[in-house]
Amino acid sequence: MSEKLWGGRFSKTTDEMINEFQASIQFDRRMYREDIAGSLAHAAMLAKVGILSEEDRAAIDKGLHDILTQIERGAFEFSVELEDIHMNIEKRLTDAIGEAGSRLHTARSRNDQVALDTHMFVRRSVVEVLSHIAELQHALVESAHANKDVIMPGYTHLQRAQPILFAHHLMAYFGMLTRDFERFQGVYARTDIMPLGAGALAGTTLPIDRAFVAQKLNFERIYTNSMDAVSDRDYILEFLSAASILMVHLSRLSEEIILWCSREFSFVELDDAHCTGSSMMPQKKNPDVSELVRGKTGRVVGHLMAMLTAVKGLPLAYNKDLQEDKEGLFDAIDTVKFSLSVYAQLIRGMKVRADIMRHAVEADFSNATDLADYLVRKGMPFRQAHSVSGQVVALCIERGIWLLDLPLADYQKLSNLFADDVYEAIRPETCVAGRNSYGGTSYEQAAMQLAAAEELMAEEQRILSALETKQQIL
Ligand code: ARG
Repeated sequence: MSEKLWGGRFSKTTDEMINEFQASIQFDRRMYREDIAGSLAHAAMLAKVGILSEEDRAAIDKGLHDILTQIERGAFEFSVELEDIHMNIEKRLTDAIGEAGSRLHTARSRNDQVALDTHMFVRRSVVEVLSHIAELQHALVESAHANKDVIMPGYTHLQRAQPILFAHHLMAYFGMLTRDFERFQGVYARTDIMPLGAGALAGTTLPIDRAFVAQKLNFERIYTNSMDAVSDRDYILEFLSAASILMVHLSRLSEEIILWCSREFSFVELDDAHCTGSSMMPQKKNPDVSELVRGKTGRVVGHLMAMLTAVKGLPLAYNKDLQEDKEGLFDAIDTVKFSLSVYAQLIRGMKVRADIMRHAVEADFSNATDLADYLVRKGMPFRQAHSVSGQVVALCIERGIWLLDLPLADYQKLSNLFADDVYEAIRPETCVAGRNSYGGTSYEQAAMQLAAAEELMAEEQRILSALETKQQIL
């Protein structure tokens, strides 16, 4: 006899290979806590509306808690024959407590059950991701503070462009992560909808109380359409989209760190504990963490594409295709969480070579815009100032010197607006301090950004602890 819970209308047992192929227990066992919490809430509701006796409910309660303990002790044997986490737990419960267990699935389908579990799992994972984002933001702010006077070249086209503060550069990533935090909050809001009670697709004839379940499991809203409830995977698509954008941010940061670590730049030095060597070349110290994060970005983006493709063209309501939603999702969750926490460590251990950055600014023409702005302040139209400064640069290149080295007499041959104060105007510190427009790289603006960041991080912590409390469902 098959141990299948749906075996009634079948005269043959499932082919062994098909069993293996269609099972999801290999991966959906990760949702055992959500599955148990969902069943406890469902049973409580069934008892409340009088479908289940108090006695049966108590037996179910105890049975489910025993199963929880067994799973957490590693003593629960999962069976592929029983397909998924839902039937593994239900079957074990019925084996343990008898008839009461077989009443648990009243007014419920695995279609709304799996939707419930996955919503709760994603919700919890979003909160974990949020806390890892906040942690990396902290690390960035710490480094920006510790290096708040460090000047480096800012780049466009990977060519030195204008002097900037290293802190300003780092805080650009802080801004990206702030949007990531907001995006994941949005994912949370649209995941926080309770699907249970949709049944297989059309609701149920039994007098259930969906609001009661929602309240027990801390859901803000309830799906208002049962077909939408069991077919909706938008929250997974949104999670994967937000995760992909986040990974793209980390990948861009990775690319910069990899460049900065190269001998050619030497702007930063990573902690030995965060790098690896080469099995052949004794001198090597490789930025593997950054390379891996850059590489793993492809994986997460791939999961998003896979899921979009899986959902596209699916008729309502549940189709087994939807079981494909989990592996990519779980992998994306793990990848994002791991990458973020590794990155926070990496940034904390990263030494900034202020001397080398400073030299890169000096041995360069990145102060040429400031030379043009100097002439503008003396009354010259910008287009003309741009051209004169270009001529100064050309002259310096010809002589193999930098703007600060050119004698005043030569400056004055190109414009009589040049005076002694030109040298002060094009010192790297002056260039940086002068860019004091809102959001610019000046010391003053950077200090404002850092102060605003502190406030924002405090607010994020408040949001986080409120969300963390809502995850206590067991
Ligand atoms: N393991 C299934 C999934 O992940 C659960 C739902 C199965 N429902 C069904 N009617 N076969 O989607």
